[in-house]
Amino acid sequence: MTEETVAFDIEDGIAWVRFNRPEKRNCMNPALNRRMMEVLDQLEYRDDVGVLVLSGEGNAWSAGMDLKEYFRETEAKGLGAVRKAQGEAYGWWRRLRWYRKPTIAMVNGWCFGGGYGPLFACDLAFAADEAQFALSEINWGILPGGGATKVVVDLLSMRDAMYHALTGELIDGRKAAAWKLVNESLPLEKLKARVTEVANILLKKNPVALKATKDAIRRVGEMTYDNAEDYLVRAQEAANSYDNDGRKEGIRQFIDEKSYKPGLGAYDK
Ligand code: ACO
Repeated sequence: MTEETVAFDIEDGIAWVRFNRPEKRNCMNPALNRRMMEVLDQLEYRDDVGVLVLSGEGNAWSAGMDLKEYFRETEAKGLGAVRKAQGEAYGWWRRLRWYRKPTIAMVNGWCFGGGYGPLFACDLAFAADEAQFALSEINWGILPGGGATKVVVDLLSMRDAMYHALTGELIDGRKAAAWKLVNESLPLEKLKARVTEVANILLKKNPVALKATKDAIRRVGEMTYDNAEDYLVRAQEAANSYDNDGRKEGIRQFIDEKSYKPGLGAYDK
């Protein structure tokens, strides 16, 4: 029987996806990476999924890459196998970065090294105060690859990124929030309720606008102001062609019906 490396449930518009190797602290082996891509693929276009939450079974979010199966055993098979395994891991992280639905990392426990790839791929991240994060690569003698260095440079100050990567020291959820690695940190027992609350806020928004907005936030960071302005005009026009009625309805409910105020909440979809 193959190990079920990824678990998921769909409830009230939210897909709760979980790394499911708790006995291995949810470290990512090639089987998990392949399965995660299949699960993401299955969920992306379902009408009953509006938001995807990624968490971990047991006391880990993810202990990073599987040092035995992803590194040692794959390296023993040669460079081709290494590149294939990298492609499988990076592939689902990339898929998640550009996912059609908004995504939330719910970091319930350990989060190491390679885990920073999917952490960054999620649009929002909420951590338990008790969660522990580290770029532990330096502790076993490699640099933070697989995008992890890029993640901390993009999210943290240069000094914090440097300290984090050079020392491999653990930080808890509170510090991860203070460093902006995650949006917020709160006690573990309150984590799921808060994530559900945020997911429900997103579920009320226009889904075409959510996808256009999340992509814009990721893309404009690398653009000049003028390029961003141009991109955003075009992105909105492209969104209009998918969703002709949504924004017109939003304007109608505000201007004609006076049933809501866009400054205070979302229109009724
Ligand atoms: N790769 C392979 N196996 C792992 C990994 C991993 N990343 N993390 C945990 N495991 C395995 C352990 O070998 C152990 O297996 P076993 O039961 O067959 O002996 C099992 O998961 C449980 O792990 P323990 O170490 O016994 O659990 P504990 O709760 O005491 O410690 C901790 C948890 C701190 C997460 C520890 O497992 C650990 O340090 N893991 C490695 C974290 C890490 O540095 N990951 C690599 C980051 S760098 C990168 O991803 C590129």
